Amino acid sequence: MSGRCGRRDHRERARASVSDSGNAGRNLAERVLFDRPLLYRIKRFVIERVIWDFVLSGIFRMDPRPIPERVPDLGGKRVLLAASGPGDATTGPAIDAAAEITAFDLSPHFARACAANHPDWRVYCGNLLSLPHADDAFDVAVLYSSLHHVPVAAERVLLELSRVSAERVVIVEGVVPERGFLRTALLVWYRLVDGGHHYYSQRELHAAAESIGWRVAREDLHGPIRHMWFATLSPPSPLSSSKQA
Ligand SMILES: C[S@@+](CC[C@H](N)C(=O)[O-])C[C@H]1O[C@@H](n2cnc3c(N)ncnc32)[C@H](O)[C@@H]1O
Repeated sequence: MSGRCGRRDHRERARASVSDSGNAGRNLAERVLFDRPLLYRIKRFVIERVIWDFVLSGIFRMDPRPIPERVPDLGGKRVLLAASGPGDATTGPAIDAAAEITAFDLSPHFARACAANHPDWRVYCGNLLSLPHADDAFDVAVLYSSLHHVPVAAERVLLELSRVSAERVVIVEGVVPERGFLRTALLVWYRLVDGGHHYYSQRELHAAAESIGWRVAREDLHGPIRHMWFATLSPPSPLSSSKQA
């Protein structure tokens, strides 16, 4: 009973928090990159194949520690892929085992490319901060490498994703250490090539999940420098969702 109430409270907070969301306001780097699917594919290739695989794992012999190939246990599930990008070059595990996939992106160019790449998905152009879906419309929501591109606190994004997900929210996000050389180096690199608004630490993402009353049920760090956070967020208790795995 108390779990149910908690879940209703958090939905009300989600609705209230998105009412003033407006346009996410993309900066110049984001407009250049997110309006050009081919450029985005080239960027992903340079980062993953050239820098991670060839330089870090090949020349410097670092453990590649790749992200899993597929999100586990999606069979029979309704999945929402948020901020999908063009859909043919993605930073997280595949979701193709899902029964139904709905995807969206703020960029109309990416949404169009995603629809062309996945004719069997429902794809639309939309904003993470105000989703046109009912509460629990999906079993699982998935968000890869996009939190840092939304110019509001991660909590707002997680609230909206958790509102429409009955079972879990799966996140991949590049994280930065709390301090030290690697943090500085990553922030300089991101400033040069990424155009994001805020780069989170793992601790900040835990705090964001806790602040909406969800918990980090599973997490791991991937990539040669262990900066790709792959996490599953779940509702607060089994009582809060009868569909929770
Ligand atoms: C780095 S790309 C990641 C794309 C894809 N998820 C992937 O893993 O390759 C960030 C994406 O977030 C999208 N995005 C940024 N703000 C958004 C918002 N408020 N609502 C929906 N999508 C957004 C961008 O258009 C872009 O496609």
